[in-house]
Amino acid sequence: MNDPALEPQIYILDTGGQYTHLIARKVRELGVYAEVVASETETSRFSKAKGLIISGGPSSVYEDGSPTIDGALLRAGIPVLGICYGQQLMAYRLDGAVTKGVKGEYGLAHLDIAGASPLFRGVANHQQVWMSHRDTVTAPPTGYSVLASTDTCAVAAIGNEATRQYGVQFHPEVVHTTEGLKILRNFVFAICGCTEDWQPASRIPVVEQQIRDVAGDRNIFFFVSGGVDSTVAYTLCLRALGEARVHGAYVDTGLMREGETEFVRGIFDSLGARHFRIELAQEEFLGALDGVTEPERKRKIIGEKFVEIQETVLESGPYLDGQWILGQGTIYPDTIESGGTAKADLIKTHHNRVAGIQKLIDAKRIVEPLASFYKDEVREIGRELGLPAAFLDRHPFPGPGLGIRCLGAERDEPIEVIDGGWIAPVHSVGVQGDSRSYRPVLIVDHLDHAHATEAINANQRVNRVIGIVGRNLPMDRLSVIASGISPDRMDRLRHADAVVRRLSLEADFESQVWQFPVVLIPVGGDGLPDSVVLRPIHSVDGMTAQSVVMPKPLLHRMRDALLAIPGVAAVFYDLTHKPPGTIEWE
Ligand code: XMP
Repeated sequence: MNDPALEPQIYILDTGGQYTHLIARKVRELGVYAEVVASETETSRFSKAKGLIISGGPSSVYEDGSPTIDGALLRAGIPVLGICYGQQLMAYRLDGAVTKGVKGEYGLAHLDIAGASPLFRGVANHQQVWMSHRDTVTAPPTGYSVLASTDTCAVAAIGNEATRQYGVQFHPEVVHTTEGLKILRNFVFAICGCTEDWQPASRIPVVEQQIRDVAGDRNIFFFVSGGVDSTVAYTLCLRALGEARVHGAYVDTGLMREGETEFVRGIFDSLGARHFRIELAQEEFLGALDGVTEPERKRKIIGEKFVEIQETVLESGPYLDGQWILGQGTIYPDTIESGGTAKADLIKTHHNRVAGIQKLIDAKRIVEPLASFYKDEVREIGRELGLPAAFLDRHPFPGPGLGIRCLGAERDEPIEVIDGGWIAPVHSVGVQGDSRSYRPVLIVDHLDHAHATEAINANQRVNRVIGIVGRNLPMDRLSVIASGISPDRMDRLRHADAVVRRLSLEADFESQVWQFPVVLIPVGGDGLPDSVVLRPIHSVDGMTAQSVVMPKPLLHRMRDALLAIPGVAAVFYDLTHKPPGTIEWE
């Protein structure tokens, strides 16, 4: 559900790049409503648009079936900005020249701007930009001039002032392009003539009216996760229809963090949600996961259990009759029209869209009040609705919960000593290119982030590297111990996770990281069956991530507290960036 009450001034034409949504978010940050559509969308759809941005993407214009644009698009008189592949596509579709690259250019570059152009007004003549491309434009189309270059890219920006069409080889939407936002601002306001029309919090009355329109005389049922999206969506529905007409349930899977269920209960009590229930299903989930160690099977079992429990809940009340529709916290990047094909799905199966619920979606018995908003915008709405900051600023948490942070092993196995470290046959998921890997982990005796990627490249058998923080046993007494998800191990992980979160909050480290998973691995000995891995990371959207260095005093406090937990043999620090590791181990 895009916002029907608002016509986008800018459309982003998606050519499959990982930054497509980032472009739309940046335009909206400028106060201008933008939506993402498929690059091939017919030009007639844009009759009311003030401007178009063609995104970057991984393809080459010379590949069969690579993303393209409608033939009439560049003749429609609408201002266009092509970014990266977008620029190449413009040049290719007109009469410019695109040259196939072999090596490519990835990372920071210095841009030299050649002369005056509305696109670069107020921008320094020399500036840092972010490049990520293989092919390049080598000759601009007729009517276009070269506006900027770098050492390795002679045509880094092109423009045609008569048609108001521009292209840039670099990425103005990423933070590493220092003046990127200024360039987007020039395009959106000076070139396209947009006016500010977008302020998420001011949309609240419109969204509430949409909820009333979709619901009609029907009521709304919600499954909430305790996350920001479903809670904000629920709150909007409560305001729109009143508490008597909005019912909800939260499933306690037994895979939750310590205190989570009580926390969720507290939030919904304070919202005045009288018809909100907590479904206790710990035994069902733990029982179904007994002895299962393969990550995709775990995810599948957890997903199927969710559906089963949700169906039981729906059948326990009047919720399947025509008087009820389902509320969902879906946000804009997850919607199909916006090209919501999270790359992560190729690597790991997410289960936010479960099959049983798909039936209700197909029957249009569904309301998604946040389907036109980005995460930051949802937080802004939540703030306006009076939800507490401590809740709105929570880190993302995976649907399958601690279940995918409690690793098992099918059999006892030794840890292998190698030159410069150890290889433990505890497998975790990684991502290289767009492919999934599932490999053992390298253990090293230092916390040197600088050499982590190097160490993985030098050991093709592994996809992740962890450093020793502290141990209760010498390394030669540690081995991999056969185990699965058990109540004991879940309690141990919950305990470790709570200790880390408390210390991290106290030291104000929590606000400096994007996410901080704590993982339990079956590495131990002498009656201490498990080890704990710390995984603090920085990220913008979870697609890529960097392992973060933690202040030493905090690390030492965590080490001592974790080594004191019964059953913990050692504490490790995950030094792996994404890629080649994923954020979660499974
Ligand atoms: P990975 O591990 O793929 O994670 O690097 C990227 C981001 O996605 C989160 N994640 C999930 N979120 N359902 C979710 O809602 C899931 O099944 C799921 N698996 C991973 C992960 O925590 C990180 O923020």
